[in-house]
Amino acid sequence: MSRLIVVSNRVPDPDRAPAGGLAVALQAALHDRGGIWMGWSGKSCGEDEPGPLAFQQQGSITYALSDLSERDLSEYYNGFANSVLWPLCHYRIDLTDFARRDAQGYFRVNRFFAQRLLPLIQEDDLIWVHDYHLMPLADELRRLGVRNRIGFFMHIPWPAPDVYLTLPMGARLLQSMTAYDLLGFQTENDAANFRECLQRGELATRRAGETDFVDTTGRHFQVGTFPISIDTGNFARLACQGVRNPTVRKFRATLGEQQLIVGVDRLDYSKGLVQRLNGYRRFLETQPHWAGHVTYLQITPKSRSGVHEYDSLQREVAELAGHIGGTMGRLDWAPMRYVNRAFSQQVLACIYRMANVALVTPLRDGMNLVAKEYVAAQDPEDPGVLVLSRFAGAAAELGPGALLVNPYDEDAIAQAITQAVSMPREERQRRHARMMEGLTHNDVFHWCTDFLGRLAPSQVLPLKGP
Ligand code: G6P
Repeated sequence: MSRLIVVSNRVPDPDRAPAGGLAVALQAALHDRGGIWMGWSGKSCGEDEPGPLAFQQQGSITYALSDLSERDLSEYYNGFANSVLWPLCHYRIDLTDFARRDAQGYFRVNRFFAQRLLPLIQEDDLIWVHDYHLMPLADELRRLGVRNRIGFFMHIPWPAPDVYLTLPMGARLLQSMTAYDLLGFQTENDAANFRECLQRGELATRRAGETDFVDTTGRHFQVGTFPISIDTGNFARLACQGVRNPTVRKFRATLGEQQLIVGVDRLDYSKGLVQRLNGYRRFLETQPHWAGHVTYLQITPKSRSGVHEYDSLQREVAELAGHIGGTMGRLDWAPMRYVNRAFSQQVLACIYRMANVALVTPLRDGMNLVAKEYVAAQDPEDPGVLVLSRFAGAAAELGPGALLVNPYDEDAIAQAITQAVSMPREERQRRHARMMEGLTHNDVFHWCTDFLGRLAPSQVLPLKGP
């Protein structure tokens, strides 16, 4: 079996236990085949040019990490990736910075990653590139003469063609993506949008069926759908085991008889936090008898503080949370708690299990793994209810069991909360069982095996969890 090379902007810290299912699955794949995980070290080297790659060995996995300069970080990470591609792919044309200023820096850093990777590549290696930071990486590698099979997985949505085509560098970027052998998307909708962009840009023609394409030079590539998932079995175990965790016990003691509503999201404008908090306020206004009987915990670690929109969102959400507490609270009851920090997987798993309702209402989301983790963490005898945005990728799989909402409609969110807190146990069980059935089969190991199986059909064995 050939080695695997994974390339992503963020690389899990080799010295710590991986924090999420994606890292666990990719590490399992790398462990089985041996290989390299390359990406940004998370550090800046200031005004200097980055030094050589830093290598760290862990069993059969080599981590190869590069610092980036302040200029690279400003143009590639904060600039083109997070101020252009991220808002655009999440349908926020209003927040997209259309100036071409940072595009050159984005392509430059991709070229730099390709040059750094080149000497590490062996003839049979499979290369798997992740996410919107590195879309042109295969093209840069091909220019350096790399002939290996290269796959790409897009973790965030691929927008409708009329949205994508507003991007001034859109055609060049799209053209560069035809250098992959396999391009994977979260949902059918994303893959269909991508195919249509290719066809409208006359960059490729469909060969057969929905998946096989040939570009203008005659190269064949495939476009497919691979919905990412979680390490379902392990997450369910964590949720059961953590009841003795002191943080969790103290938290549980503060709840008394109240129902717990929970939301867990990075502080990001794609997550629909303002509409969600307003929806909760509307619920309390229209259903005043629930005052004192529910409490809403919103866990929201801050992110991407180098990007202006994130700083202003931070103020807006904090004000709104304070306003709800100030106007709806009583001496003996706080309607919500708003916490800007991250918690361990184990603490989160237990909070999910305790929560009667989870609010996962992004305005747009590639998949949303909080939705899947919440379902996996439930007690099947007495499960909670998932309120889920119809614009999260997860809705395609969890739709029939979750309460689907339009995340822009604050009244619909209020109604869904009312339905969720009053739902009879039997209906909760039925809905949960439907969602869990899919998650048990489609876990993150299945996702990983499926993708690699399409990238290199002759040599992939099923992966098992650690
Ligand atoms: C999303 C992206 C990831 C990214 C993560 C955290 O999930 O798909 O590629 O790593 O957000 O964002 P950050 O900018 O902190 O890496």
